[in-house]
Amino acid sequence: MFELIRTLVNAYGATGREKTVSEVIENLVKPYVDTISRDALGNLICVKKGTDENGKKIMLSAHMDHIGFIVVAVEKEGYLRVMPVGGIGLAVSKTRHVSFENGVQGVIVQQPVREGETPAMKHMFIDIGAENDEEALSMIQLGDVAVYSNDCFRLGKNRVSAPAMDDRIACALLVSVLQDLPQVKNTVVAVFSTQEEVGCRGAKVAAFGIEPDVGIALDVTANGDTPETKLPAVKLGAGAAVKIMDRGSISNPELVQELLDAGKRAGVPTQREVLPFGGTDASAIQLSRGGVKAGTVSIPCRYVHSACEVIDLRDVEACKGLLLEYLK
Ligand code: CO
Ligand code: ZN
Repeated sequence: MFELIRTLVNAYGATGREKTVSEVIENLVKPYVDTISRDALGNLICVKKGTDENGKKIMLSAHMDHIGFIVVAVEKEGYLRVMPVGGIGLAVSKTRHVSFENGVQGVIVQQPVREGETPAMKHMFIDIGAENDEEALSMIQLGDVAVYSNDCFRLGKNRVSAPAMDDRIACALLVSVLQDLPQVKNTVVAVFSTQEEVGCRGAKVAAFGIEPDVGIALDVTANGDTPETKLPAVKLGAGAAVKIMDRGSISNPELVQELLDAGKRAGVPTQREVLPFGGTDASAIQLSRGGVKAGTVSIPCRYVHSACEVIDLRDVEACKGLLLEYLK
């Protein structure tokens, strides 16, 4: 599992630029599914047909995109000005190593802020080592997107840190579920979605096109087990988190129970999750067409939307056990 995670977190895939990561995933799942297609938004849609013609269509969605910084201007001295793509935190972005898709490396820096002034994205710039605008523009173009650079490492016995754990850890989970899923009655549609970080845009059109009977988002959630952080009441290493509610959706209560029951049958630990903020692809799937029974299985994650997002491998295995049991 660690190698699979490393492969996926290291693939470039800023929000709206998911092509490379989708190609990596396509190669990994190809032998295990019946059809693979892409839509206009770049969603990678992998179908494993069920044995029962009247079986249900179950959509699982894990987003491929990763938050980043889009270049909006290049200064005379060669510094890049950027805007966020998705929910970038300023405090966690100061003096970080960032990378562009074409391999150009940079350091994102916060310039000194005047007294009384609130730090904002306009105070951030990227230094790519260029000595003037001409040199900078020979390296990158306006509209290129930088992301936190690859840095995947093990932390203690069971944990892994990397940027883009949100949501490549769920992509790894979904790939792994497809690899081990036997032929089942229901049709499973695995969607590796795009543009989640700017409002679940990929999942919205994917759900419309697929018309699932059930939709389950796979995503990270936050934690309440680090200093001064009590909510959500979710712990790393305590198992698969079944979402009850977040800012974007209220999970279908029947589906919540079915997922918790599947976890029990599979003998894996589960935790109930109520997140006071955030949202997942479930928010878009749920409101598709005439409405879809939807929910989220979450992987607890520390320091979400930073360059060091930490997960516990035991939670990923718990989610996998739960999902395989549910899909049976
Ligand atoms: Co996110
Ligand atoms: Zn996410």
